[in-house]
Amino acid sequence: MSNCVIELSGLNKSFTNGAGSHHVLKKIDLSVVSGEMIAILGQSGSGKSTLLSIMGLLDTADSGRFLLCDQNVSTFSAYQMSLLRNKHIGWVFQNFNLIADMTVAENLAVPLRFNPSIKQSEFTSKINQVLQKVGLADKQAFYPAELSGGQQQRVAIARALICQPDILLCDEPTGNLDSLNSNKIMALLGDLHKEGKTVVIITHDPEVADFCQKAYRLYDGEIAPASAQEFKHAV
Ligand SMILES: Nc1ncnc2c1ncn2[C@@H]1O[C@H](COP(=O)(O)OP(=O)(O)O)[C@@H](O)[C@H]1O
Ligand SMILES: [Mg+2]
Repeated sequence: MSNCVIELSGLNKSFTNGAGSHHVLKKIDLSVVSGEMIAILGQSGSGKSTLLSIMGLLDTADSGRFLLCDQNVSTFSAYQMSLLRNKHIGWVFQNFNLIADMTVAENLAVPLRFNPSIKQSEFTSKINQVLQKVGLADKQAFYPAELSGGQQQRVAIARALICQPDILLCDEPTGNLDSLNSNKIMALLGDLHKEGKTVVIITHDPEVADFCQKAYRLYDGEIAPASAQEFKHAV
């Protein structure tokens, strides 16, 4: 297990549109210890994706401090952020975001091509390895549309794993799945957590949070531990 910790303190983010300024994240303090599996609950529009995008270095906060793996990201250039992102972070999205006209194997090769430390001769073994991990070793030549939603999300998880990140950031990973597939995806994320990955899941669904060790609630731009009414492992 690596020692890559996420530490946010006093983080603020606002968006301005025609209706004025909207303070979406207010003085967010959050620590995610290496190897934890946490959920962040919140209704639609509560700022979950904004928070995850900042944690995953796809967006920046307006103010506050953000340490990722002991590095103060607030001072980083876009290029430095992209290097840190590629090294440490794998993304899983609600809509799977697979490329429709590429096979499963071709989709999995995309992040490898952007990773200068992986040689092309290693691609096939890496693709086999991650597909085996998600139980889809026989689906390499399939196109996304030929797979069920649950299988597509497994491919997306394989893609998130292929460059061996420390942290998996999952934005409503079960949002497009029925309850059976949702439980299977959460069990898979739980297995990855047991192997040492840090897993952060944002969701509106308390049943998804119950697969995690800890849960927080984002409400009106503020974050707090989830209550015992909405999270069965609440302390
Ligand atoms: N790029 C943006 N520009 C303007 N407003 C945004 C932008 N991204 C998000 N917002 C606003 O911020 C709020 C939180 O959005 P989001 O983080 O996507 O919420 P959630 O993921 O919880 O549904 C919403 O009111 C949304 O309209
Ligand atoms: Mg969202």
